[in-house]
Amino acid sequence: MAPLKRLVSCIVVSLPLAVLTQDSQCAMQLSHTVLNNKTNKSDAEDFVKKMVQQVLSYPAPAVNSEVSVSRPLLFMHQYRAGGTTLRQLLYNVSTNLGVKAHIACSGGVDCREFQIREASSAVYGGHFCWHESLKHLGEDKKPSCLTNFREPEARLMSCYTHRLVTTKKVAPWCMGKLAPEKLKSMLVNYGCVNEPFRRLGQCGLISKVGDKDRLTRMQVWNATLETLGQCVPILVDEHDTFKAAVNTFPQFKTAFWALKNLTLNQNKYAHDCQISDAHRQ
Ligand SMILES: *[C@@H]1O[C@H](CO)[C@@H](O)[C@H](O)[C@H]1NC(C)=O
Ligand SMILES: *[C@@H]1O[C@H](CO)[C@@H](O)[C@H](O)[C@H]1NC(C)=O
Ligand SMILES: *[C@@H]1O[C@H](CO)[C@@H](O)[C@H](O)[C@H]1NC(C)=O
Ligand SMILES: *[C@@H]1O[C@H](CO)[C@@H](O)[C@H](O)[C@H]1NC(C)=O
Ligand SMILES: *[C@@H]1O[C@H](CO)[C@@H](O)[C@H](O)[C@H]1NC(C)=O
Repeated sequence: MAPLKRLVSCIVVSLPLAVLTQDSQCAMQLSHTVLNNKTNKSDAEDFVKKMVQQVLSYPAPAVNSEVSVSRPLLFMHQYRAGGTTLRQLLYNVSTNLGVKAHIACSGGVDCREFQIREASSAVYGGHFCWHESLKHLGEDKKPSCLTNFREPEARLMSCYTHRLVTTKKVAPWCMGKLAPEKLKSMLVNYGCVNEPFRRLGQCGLISKVGDKDRLTRMQVWNATLETLGQCVPILVDEHDTFKAAVNTFPQFKTAFWALKNLTLNQNKYAHDCQISDAHRQ
């Protein structure tokens, strides 16, 4: 359960409302700015902590040593965290194993496939949403979940540079040129934060995790953490966490080993462009 524990501390610091740990690797302050501070933090921390503790006590996800149509592997791909390479690797291994794969951008599947629309494959991969995917696959399936995370600051920088600056051309190279409030709303509106909640909890670009309403927030955390509790996380920048994936999906071990050789998309964020303390609070 070690990867999950580390991961939970990562997501929690990278997300709204609660900074629960001082984990040095994950103590990422920028998220404070990024997130909605209208909500009552002490209130949120109170229930989030309890939920996290509960999820950490869940048993590890069951080993799936023979991935099949009835027990498919679902790779819930989170953006900007090495997942595109893993998708290709999973596709290649599936081909070698002779199992059918439905993976965005591979084997003729559209790169903008954001929903699973068939149920005859053994391996799925893409920017899907967990609960929606379960509905598409049908109740008779018992899917196993795999997802990818990356150290939150690196991921956020990569998302900012790639999506807001390069692709959408809506933001300056330097985050510091944006007022903190503006930066926050852009990162939220363009989906650079809240990714775990979107993939594993509810669907939709803007997560309701920052909602004022306590019940709504609890439901979002509950749905996300419950999914996470049954999902095998890969922390792409921590190679020892790959062991959990190898153990759970032994047929795909060569994909995970090869992923270790991955050099993450170089962060293009300009190093001379410091993020001010005001932006980190
Ligand atoms: C966020 O919190 C700071 C400090 O508590 C406060 O000055 C600011 O007005 C808050 N912003 C919003 C949008 O509530
Ligand atoms: C925040 O929650 C605490 C504890 O539940 C409560 O005492 C406090 O009044 C709340 N503050 C606001 C602004 O709602
Ligand atoms: C989520 O909600 C369900 C139903 O109320 C509950 O049984 C479960 O313990 C909750 N999970 C967490 C992590 O709080
Ligand atoms: C997957 O296989 C194809 C075809 O053999 C190859 O070109 C590609 O580099 C492989 N992808 C990865 C990530 O190894
Ligand atoms: C990883 O890279 C090293 C050095 O290039 C190579 O020898 C090794 O075969 C690679 N491993 C995998 C699993 O691709």
